[in-house]
Amino acid sequence: MTGENTQSTELEGLLKRMKSAASPARQILRELHARYQPLTEGRVADYIPELAKADPEWFGISLVTVDGKIVEVGDTSQRFTIQSISKPFVYGLALEHHGRDHVLTKVGVEPSGDAFNSIIFDERSNRPFNPMVNAGAIATAGLLPGKDLTDRVNLLLDMFRRYTGSHVHIDPAVFLSERSTGHRNRAIGHLMLNFGMIGERVEETLELYFQQCSVLVNCHELAMMAATLANQGVHPQTGQRAVAEEYVKDILAVMYTCGMYDFAGEWAYSVGLPAKSGVSGGILAVVPGRMGVAVFSPRLDPRGNSVRGIRVFQELSREFGLHIFGPESSRNSLQI
Ligand code: DON
Repeated sequence: MTGENTQSTELEGLLKRMKSAASPARQILRELHARYQPLTEGRVADYIPELAKADPEWFGISLVTVDGKIVEVGDTSQRFTIQSISKPFVYGLALEHHGRDHVLTKVGVEPSGDAFNSIIFDERSNRPFNPMVNAGAIATAGLLPGKDLTDRVNLLLDMFRRYTGSHVHIDPAVFLSERSTGHRNRAIGHLMLNFGMIGERVEETLELYFQQCSVLVNCHELAMMAATLANQGVHPQTGQRAVAEEYVKDILAVMYTCGMYDFAGEWAYSVGLPAKSGVSGGILAVVPGRMGVAVFSPRLDPRGNSVRGIRVFQELSREFGLHIFGPESSRNSLQI
């Protein structure tokens, strides 16, 4: 090895140590990424043919604090479709347009303990159980106003722009794939039309729902969206309000109780954060008043949640003391 090489290696080592000394969070994220990269359990979703094209090895972790600091590792700029992670955000938009009382007549806030695509309704009210299962999300999309589909899609995209702080687009291939295979969602939509939970524009609402699932994001943007909720609805970098402050707690409450479907109880116990997963392999979680975190890795467990995502969040919650009922939650011990 030449003297020059030795010097540059030493310098790299020093820089590395300085960086990790300055940011324990960065060091922890790097370690978690390295620890879980070899985990190959689970399967990429293929019930929508376009989703099966994802590279199972993609793996990113992003963390954004409410004052706009960013720490990330891995494939955090790889784009994928948002899928069910769109649901809490669209719920917030429906609340802003109609208020709590009206939205509650169309969709409940009760965890169902069922799979995301279950065709089960509350027996007494005929409402879908909550806005996170497909039935509830379709009923919620049904509440978005607009004279036609274009108007309603624009309302949706503007909302995602406020949350991400950047331009968002719909992936046309995934949208077409969703639409041509979405028979179960179509059945759910028509059943709700029968119950009066959704208006006559059911076909248009289903198109809107398929488009909302096909919005392209990356792990970095998901963490920004989560950080915006952590910051009471204000984007940490642009300072723009994405959702009225009064509805942030409603969004977080349904994420906490229903965001992980039939894994919601175990998640609340072991991670303890409001969160939402999607079948592309993203999971975002909100640490109220502190930060947003997102993990992206496309291999899913049988419940449709990212395998690496769950493991990373369980460790992060433990290492950083993030559980909302944990002793550290009021101490803000983590140095970013
Ligand atoms: O309704 C569907 O089938 C999807 N487009 C969204 C599903 C989803 O992400 C469920 N979450 N894990």
